[in-house]
Amino acid sequence: MRPRRALLYVPGNDLKKITKAAGLDVDGVILDLEDGVAANRKDEARGVILEALKSVDFGSSERMVRINPFYTQRAEHDLDAVLPGKPDAVVVPKANTAEIIKETDRLITAAESARGFAPGSIGIIALIESGLAFVNLAAICAASPRLQGLILGAEDLCADTGITRTSAAQELLFARSALVMHAAAFGLQAIDIVQTNFTNNELLQAECKTGSELGFTGKQIIHPAQVEITQAAFTPSPEAIEKAQKIMEGAQIAQADGMGAYSLDGEMVDLPVVKRAETIVARAKAAGLIA
Ligand code: COA
Ligand code: MG
Repeated sequence: MRPRRALLYVPGNDLKKITKAAGLDVDGVILDLEDGVAANRKDEARGVILEALKSVDFGSSERMVRINPFYTQRAEHDLDAVLPGKPDAVVVPKANTAEIIKETDRLITAAESARGFAPGSIGIIALIESGLAFVNLAAICAASPRLQGLILGAEDLCADTGITRTSAAQELLFARSALVMHAAAFGLQAIDIVQTNFTNNELLQAECKTGSELGFTGKQIIHPAQVEITQAAFTPSPEAIEKAQKIMEGAQIAQADGMGAYSLDGEMVDLPVVKRAETIVARAKAAGLIA
């Protein structure tokens, strides 16, 4: 799966910001039709996004579009407008039920077939941001083979559930871990909360570290100043890569010698340790750090 260490939201009606985002070397750009766009700019944003998908060179960045929620009656119109631009993925907000993902899949399938796009080429990423979405999470994860990742929408989740949002984000621990568990169970990526303060690098760094330790594979961001720090935080360090390669090499030799567990620099290595090492090497490869 492609790396999604940082996914940058860009208001869909702002061509200047879209053009800027395209040159940032960020893993993914989310062209937004939902909360980043005022109600009286939605129509304009649909046109700007279609044009950008067709004519702006995003380099190696993934081109994603966040549509409006289905209950607003705007989602279908959004998909009609932007799918002709063949985005790499559609981000579905308020993905509260499996039915919402199935409906998105159905509309994408129809557009792919009508336009001659390769079947299955447009992915889906689900924004998990309500109590109901957590109750339905396993069914949501299983709803479509297009689903590639889950994003935690912290602000909306707090609004929905009565959780008080704090900067330490302790109140989100259950939601963050529950999302990571489901992502792991269904082979999906897990994308962490937004740090809205884009001037305090230490705050961002600390939040990235916690997210990475909790098992997230990437994070949503809202400003160009957050790209580098976030992508670095979700990339294994050179030391971690070297250690992981050593563990995997040692495991091969141990297996050949008939040993399931072996010792490396005073620590036991067994299968789960090897699996973790394999994940680190896979992430380093996805980030282009090793061949
Ligand atoms: N994508 C691309 N470019 C962005 C950007 C973004 N999300 N946010 C800021 N920029 C650009 C600005 O246009 C400016 O470009 P310039 O130097 O070429 O003029 C530069 O980065 C510096 O921006 P700055 O002046 O610090 O911020 P701002 O006041 O222009 O914008 C926000 C601040 C918060 C309004 C803006 O970052 C933003 O719109 N973020 C996304 C919000 C969003 O989508 N929210 C919904 C999802 S949570
Ligand atoms: Mg929201």
